[in-house]
Amino acid sequence: MKFTVAIDGPAAAGKGTISKAVAAHFGFAHLDTGLLYRAVGAKVLGGANAVDAAEMLMPADLEAGNLRTAEVAEAASKVAAIPEVRRALVEFQQSFARRSGGAVLDGRDIGTVICPEAEVKLFVTATPEVRAQRRLLELQASGSETTFDEVLADVLARDARDAGRADAPMKVAEDAVLIDTSEMEIADAVDAALAEVERRRDLA
Ligand code: C5P
Repeated sequence: MKFTVAIDGPAAAGKGTISKAVAAHFGFAHLDTGLLYRAVGAKVLGGANAVDAAEMLMPADLEAGNLRTAEVAEAASKVAAIPEVRRALVEFQQSFARRSGGAVLDGRDIGTVICPEAEVKLFVTATPEVRAQRRLLELQASGSETTFDEVLADVLARDARDAGRADAPMKVAEDAVLIDTSEMEIADAVDAALAEVERRRDLA
């Protein structure tokens, strides 16, 4: 069975939690496509050329320990604006999406560019302030002393870069279901996503 769930949206909207929950519930494989760009970004911070790094990326590179930092996120969103970098990563994502047994991919352009034929498309979003507050709590929990204003500025800069780039900008696919988690408990957002996947699976 081939069944693809595309989950797009900005940082800290709840995409990761929803994607993992959908994958676990239905027994689908999950790919966090942001990790591909983060792995390339981390290599560029280490002195590599972005396009070479993308073309030579290995699955083991996604396991590197430092990929979740704010510095790597920023480097990721810069390399993600380079068309050759994006092109080098398309085939891996598309073959993951069509593996048998079902797949969930989360990112920015999954429903629009990588898998326009996905059986389910969700766009998970929340206001920048709510997302910055969530990210601040995560960063504080891991010992960072950053402030709300700094995190909000990072969130806004990354949104602008991701939505404003010419190649595969972050945008809501025409046929995506929007889930706005600004005033929602994450458990309710997960339930809404599960219900949508269930509905489409019954139709498939
Ligand atoms: O989702 P995450 O925050 O890990 O993504 C890091 C960066 O990678 C994003 O800010 C975005 O620039 C880029 N990205 C992308 N396309 C995707 C996934 C991530 O451009 N499908």
